[in-house]
Amino acid sequence: MARKLIFIFLIFLTILSVDVNCFKLQQVLILSRHNLRTPLTSNLKDTSPHKWPKWKYDYGYLTDKGALLESYMGEYFKEWLNEQGLLPPVCPTADDVFVYANTKQRTRESANAFVRGAFKSCNISAYSINSEKMDPVFNPILRDTSEETKRKIIAELENKLRELDLDEAYTHLSEILDLKNSHICKNDLLCDFSQFKNEIVYVIGQEPRIVGPLNTTNNVMDAIIMSYYEGMANEDVAWGKINKAQQWTLLTKIIRENQNVRFNSSTLGRNVAKPLLKYIQGVFTDIPPRKVTVLFGHDSNLNSVMAALGLKHYELPNHYEATPPGGKIVFQKWHDEKMNRDLLKINYVYQTIDQIRNTYYLSSKNPPFWVDLELTNCSVDKNGFCPWEKFQKMLISIN
Ligand SMILES: *[C@@H]1O[C@H](CO)[C@@H](O)[C@H](O)[C@H]1NC(C)=O
Ligand SMILES: *[C@@H]1O[C@H](CO)[C@@H](O)[C@H](O)[C@H]1NC(C)=O
Ligand SMILES: *[C@@H]1O[C@H](CO)[C@@H](O)[C@H](O)[C@H]1NC(C)=O
Ligand SMILES: *[C@@H]1O[C@H](CO)[C@@H](O)[C@H](O)[C@H]1NC(C)=O
Repeated sequence: MARKLIFIFLIFLTILSVDVNCFKLQQVLILSRHNLRTPLTSNLKDTSPHKWPKWKYDYGYLTDKGALLESYMGEYFKEWLNEQGLLPPVCPTADDVFVYANTKQRTRESANAFVRGAFKSCNISAYSINSEKMDPVFNPILRDTSEETKRKIIAELENKLRELDLDEAYTHLSEILDLKNSHICKNDLLCDFSQFKNEIVYVIGQEPRIVGPLNTTNNVMDAIIMSYYEGMANEDVAWGKINKAQQWTLLTKIIRENQNVRFNSSTLGRNVAKPLLKYIQGVFTDIPPRKVTVLFGHDSNLNSVMAALGLKHYELPNHYEATPPGGKIVFQKWHDEKMNRDLLKINYVYQTIDQIRNTYYLSSKNPPFWVDLELTNCSVDKNGFCPWEKFQKMLISIN
């Protein structure tokens, strides 16, 4: 009986491995957010009578820890690409791999760190254009000057603002900040975030912006969560006042919603991500195809691309942000040898809160988290694949 069961089990295993073996990875495009950085703004002191922690880097810079975390990502991906047989265990050539970053220090240095981890002592270096200005490919600005597009995008922004439900988060954040004793309360009478209106700023050549409590509280929460990721002492993270996961979940809703309002709508996404979508389309149509492309941009890039492509709602377990630092959308082209067809698979790959805060080294035994993503217009099968051709048609239609 036992022997018979083992026999059946072996047949089962054989069937499984045959099934797996007929898919071959052909091409990968990784769209990554930069890793852990310092807060983006210096003018937080008015929001609280408490003292803010000091950072030893400039504003919006990748920290040393962020660079280390990103080099772990690089090492991990090199290992994965070797295992899948897409890259050789020796150094790949510059024809096989291209790592391309936006011009900000945090994106450039994330790309350099990824290359250090993945292609140590290989002749591969990260590329970015030679300018201090935003690279147009990564610049998530409003471009289309037509009134029709403006009307649509404003309607999308208004819709998202109408659905905002942040009162509970605002109240809790006000307690943590001691808002009633802050400068903005005493001088500007901004004593209750939920009493103020968020205004849409729609200017061609600028990012879609919201001025009001959403922006202010987002800057505050961003500074707080970055200090948590950085591993600062408890008293330097929101003055020791956030101790429970539920508090983080509630408060980081502000960060998720700020991105959701500003970048997660379809007409808006297609507009602000236009050059990036064109670039991505080009990578998938160039002949001969380059095996691996890694792009380093911002949460705004990931969100606008996902909105333009119509990604289904997803959850990232063990994280508070919807687009975490160092998190990657991994577009994969697979070939199904049995059926002779090409397939798309998309994953979100990211370091969990623990992996970030405790600087955990990554390997195939301690991998970053992988979450399956799905396009609304390209349903996946049980293996997470959707037809490649359908995806290509979609890229053409939105470009
Ligand atoms: C390194 O790569 C660059 C460009 O990809 C190439 O021009 C150069 O010859 C390579 N150097 C070596 C030592 O292979
Ligand atoms: C958001 O608020 C900060 C101050 O907290 C301000 O410096 C910045 O200009 C505002 N950003 C936008 C996009 O309005
Ligand atoms: C983006 O918007 C869709 C609805 O249009 C929603 O289901 C999804 O949760 C949003 N994503 C994020 C990260 O907020
Ligand atoms: C998905 O399909 C709907 C209905 O045909 C269409 O309106 C929408 O533009 C499509 N989205 C994408 C990203 O192709």
